Amino acid sequence: TDISKIRNFSIIAHIDHGKSTLADRLIQATGGLTAREMTGNAQVLDNMEIERERGITIKAQTVRLNWKGYELNLMDTPGHVDFAYEVSRSLAACEGALLVVDAAQGVEAQTLANVYQSIEHDHEIVPVINKVDLPSADPEGVRQEIEEIIGLDASQAVLASAKTGIGIEEVLDAIVERIPPPKGDAAAPLKAMLVDSWYDPYLGVVILVRVIDGTLKHGQQVKFMAAGTTHLVDRVGCFTPKRTDLPELGPGEIGFITAQIKEVAETRVGDTITDAKRPAAEALPGFKLVQPVVFCGLFPTDAADFEKLRDSLYKLRLNDASFSFEMETSAALGFGFRCGFLGLLHLEIIQERLTREYDLDLITTAPSVVYEVHLRGGEVRSIHNPADWPDANAIESVEEPWIEATIYMPDEYLGSVLKLCQDRRGVQKNLTYVGTGAHARAQLTYELPLNEVVFDFYDRLKSISRGYASFDYHQVGHRPGDLVKMSIMVNGEPVDALSMIVDRANAEARGRGMCERLKDLIPRHLFKIPIQAAIGGKIIARETIGALRKDVTAKCYGGDATRKRKLLEKQKKGKARMREYGSVSIPQEAFIAALRMG
Ligand code: GTP
Repeated sequence: TDISKIRNFSIIAHIDHGKSTLADRLIQATGGLTAREMTGNAQVLDNMEIERERGITIKAQTVRLNWKGYELNLMDTPGHVDFAYEVSRSLAACEGALLVVDAAQGVEAQTLANVYQSIEHDHEIVPVINKVDLPSADPEGVRQEIEEIIGLDASQAVLASAKTGIGIEEVLDAIVERIPPPKGDAAAPLKAMLVDSWYDPYLGVVILVRVIDGTLKHGQQVKFMAAGTTHLVDRVGCFTPKRTDLPELGPGEIGFITAQIKEVAETRVGDTITDAKRPAAEALPGFKLVQPVVFCGLFPTDAADFEKLRDSLYKLRLNDASFSFEMETSAALGFGFRCGFLGLLHLEIIQERLTREYDLDLITTAPSVVYEVHLRGGEVRSIHNPADWPDANAIESVEEPWIEATIYMPDEYLGSVLKLCQDRRGVQKNLTYVGTGAHARAQLTYELPLNEVVFDFYDRLKSISRGYASFDYHQVGHRPGDLVKMSIMVNGEPVDALSMIVDRANAEARGRGMCERLKDLIPRHLFKIPIQAAIGGKIIARETIGALRKDVTAKCYGGDATRKRKLLEKQKKGKARMREYGSVSIPQEAFIAALRMG
């Protein structure tokens, strides 16, 4: 394709503002699919449901559209704060973006974060005010908001309704007219960026690429520069959205290749693909190896599900190389896995998929971040599991990861949100008001320790703002912290699954909360049971479960033989789920409940 006829763009939108609906409309308007192919299948780009039946999920695709002789490549980006790096690579593959804003809702925090990234990539941004068909639509107000909040010229914003079809041709024309064509040198050695990859049950690993220079051909021997591996390209093509094979991809083009790669983990987002025989002199800038930042233990509620959990984790990892898992054993919870995620929302997605798609009932231990622990001897360890925490005497200092969060909310919730951030050791950086009238909102920037955010920050934020606050964050490096390991002891025995790393100043309150909950959750025994929270050898909180009166048990087992047998059977069944701590039996439900309340 003539490079001047190519346009590469992504769509930036807050959840529910109509990104998928608009994408479908663009596909339909350009004839990628007939009306008949579109119907009955709510959202074309959302392949999840179909793939789910096969037990494997495909990633959202990138689509090539033909419009008035131009080749438009619509790049789908993950709409998720935890995938910041993936988003940045997708954006780096485009020259422009459609900014879709709901005409009734206005600009939201997540939209902002993505717009700023898009601006950083020098994108030409075309504002699209969607849902103008709604009675509550206020396109003028939203236009002003885009100008005031984002600082973009919105005088040329396209008014559209992805639902009724208003403005769709204008959107396509605007892409051609306003977004610049890519630049590239067809004669230079091949240089292509690995934008994304996923596992396809028929094709193996499919790689999404953006060619910068040179040509990527079927049958070519290519080298992945960061991974250092060489592969033979056995398929080249694009999605229209149907998979279409092509002989080659030229400079500026976006498409896919396959190269007999078995695992997604072998492909690294941001890697440079070059010709093995005539390699590029240097790789593309900005390559980064993504590392998990939040860890937790996942255990099957029913020990018999361990194998199933392992198989499910393997399956999920086929398509998501960014999460990690390794086996872990806990005295309290049995066999399970220590898993690493890109963020808390990533953790929730995986957890939910395990529950919903793989029908597993799971216990999740308190999420932990990765601490840099400096030992007295000079050694530095990265630790994310309280079980690996060194003895306090051996620790010189500890550093913890911090984030910068942007929270965006109606003014009435500002007071509660400020208090929440303050309670979580936050440092306020900025507070501004944006928008006018019904769209006026406070924009708050805070620096927070990630450790305080992974507990239940997001849920608390949503509940105190009745769902109106939106939240976005990025990491800003490690900083010194006064962190300690808090252990929970039942009848003098530490319970591994309940220990956690906490800020020393908050340790007492956390410990007390946990002891109080456990007091209600652990059944009485024939003797008194102390429940204690401790840091090192020092007890910081304590509760006691009173002893069971003997006559109660006597009465219980006194009845007729059938009843007694039933009770015994019931008890035996219950026993399987009990964990013994010294002479104390703790029902597994108690751990689950204690952990769920975090
Ligand atoms: P996620 O997939 O959750 O990120 O949302 P999205 O941004 O892709 O939004 P989606 O296209 O799923 O649309 C969200 C809702 O808005 C759906 O119920 C759509 O039917 C509706 N919607 C999308 N565009 C319009 C529009 O122009 N007018 C009206 N009235 N509704 C629309």
